[in-house]
Amino acid sequence: MKIAFAKPELPAQGTLVAVVSEQRKLGHLATQIDKSGKGAVQRALGASRFKGNTDELLTILAPAGIDADRLVLVGIGNPAKLDNLAAQGIGGRLVAALNGVGEKEAAIQVDAPADSALTEVALAAQIAYGARLRSYRFDKYKTKEKPEQKLSLKKLTIYTGDPAAAKKLYDPLDKVAEAVGFARDLVSEPGNVIYPETLAEQARSLKSLGIEIDVLGETAMKKLGMGALLGVGQGSERESQLVIMRWNGAKDSKKRPVAFIGKGVTFDTGGISLKPGAGMEDMKWDMGGSAAVIGAMRALAARKAKANVIGVVGLVENMPDGKAQRPGDIVTSMSGQTIEVLNTDAEGRLVLCDAMWYAQEQYKPEVMIDLATLTGAILIALGTQHAGMFTNEDKLAEQLTAAGKATGELLWRMPLASAYDRMMDSPAADIKNISGSRNAGSITAAQFLQRFVQKGVAWAHLDIAGMAWADKDQATCPKGATAFGVRLLDKLIAANFED
Ligand code: BES
Ligand code: MN
Ligand code: ZN
Repeated sequence: MKIAFAKPELPAQGTLVAVVSEQRKLGHLATQIDKSGKGAVQRALGASRFKGNTDELLTILAPAGIDADRLVLVGIGNPAKLDNLAAQGIGGRLVAALNGVGEKEAAIQVDAPADSALTEVALAAQIAYGARLRSYRFDKYKTKEKPEQKLSLKKLTIYTGDPAAAKKLYDPLDKVAEAVGFARDLVSEPGNVIYPETLAEQARSLKSLGIEIDVLGETAMKKLGMGALLGVGQGSERESQLVIMRWNGAKDSKKRPVAFIGKGVTFDTGGISLKPGAGMEDMKWDMGGSAAVIGAMRALAARKAKANVIGVVGLVENMPDGKAQRPGDIVTSMSGQTIEVLNTDAEGRLVLCDAMWYAQEQYKPEVMIDLATLTGAILIALGTQHAGMFTNEDKLAEQLTAAGKATGELLWRMPLASAYDRMMDSPAADIKNISGSRNAGSITAAQFLQRFVQKGVAWAHLDIAGMAWADKDQATCPKGATAFGVRLLDKLIAANFED
């Protein structure tokens, strides 16, 4: 879908969209059309339940007084309460509705009321952003679809008094949306297409944006002593990979970076501790953390963020095999700590601990944030509304929480404490990879990771297992891969770490 900004006009075809605020208060355009159509808009309103709330749309076909085929009234609720997320939702729901009726072309006039909390320009840009985010569809393997089953909307024009200013505000958002789409593609692809080497190849494509990329294979990782990560990939025919992405956008190129670490299990069968068959296909998105990191790096580079950021993703496939690691195996991580692998399905932490150690040794980050579809237990605790956040630093907790609220990628802080940490002590090695109790499953996973955080590093772990995939359509995300984390991390950097 193409998005354009233009001065208001009355189109001769397609759909024209006009805003209405709560209690059926018509915007300028709707008022004007009501007049030229001799009260047709008011009559349609009277015959409907539409009140002008942010989740409401009213379609008037062959509207009197204008040439357009369709007039859509879109609710903007209480203008004083309009914020970026509400505006994005309006844009998202609008394009979903237009695609639902097969419209090809539409124009929306955003004449913000005088008491609107968003300027007209911001409203225009945010509606466009939401529209773009929702207009995602992963349909490359649907070869027999009829045209009417595809997304129909080809062009959305946003009418505003100052199109150039709206476009300027929209440009960086467009780049973030592009990165979100890229990450959603990576997560949507099945395990036979996206495996460690092909995912590394996708990350390599970011080179064209000015990101420096290194990819380590198994030989290099063995030399570094990454026995924990390598143990997970040991049963797979696919070679494990570690991808390092560097974006040096700060004025001071020596400024300590922020490091993002991603779990990239391209398929998680559980290994020898095999998962049950039903629903195992979901484990193609067990690389959602790495997709978020790759997507965030792409967004930062595309909009030329003035910050130094490192992305490290550990890419492995967890398979059962004659060569696979066994429950009870003891591996030595890059940190030197030995790990008793009591359950080969608790593999994400084994991948992360080596990726985290590598990032800290190489880049001495000021802040380190890992993202992982780490535990089923986080779904039990928080469902699909919040990702779990574990951190050793209150300031980072606040910064992340705020970035979550601003982007709609919500976080909820969970505890860390030495009593939970002790649950991970192993009788045979320095640490074990499961506690052996079902209690506090997400917390004990976080405690495992914390043992690999070096002194002086502000660290946060985001368990996104409940957030990486949506079973239902959302305002700015169709069901499927969400790319949760891309907007969050981009916002975190924009709000706290840029020159
Ligand atoms: N990738 C899974 C976690 C997961 C579960 C993500 C459901 C998304 C949806 C992870 O590797 C895993 O298998 N975790 C185990 C840990 C357990 C063995 C301690 C789990 O949560 O059951
Ligand atoms: Mn697992
Ligand atoms: Zn996993």
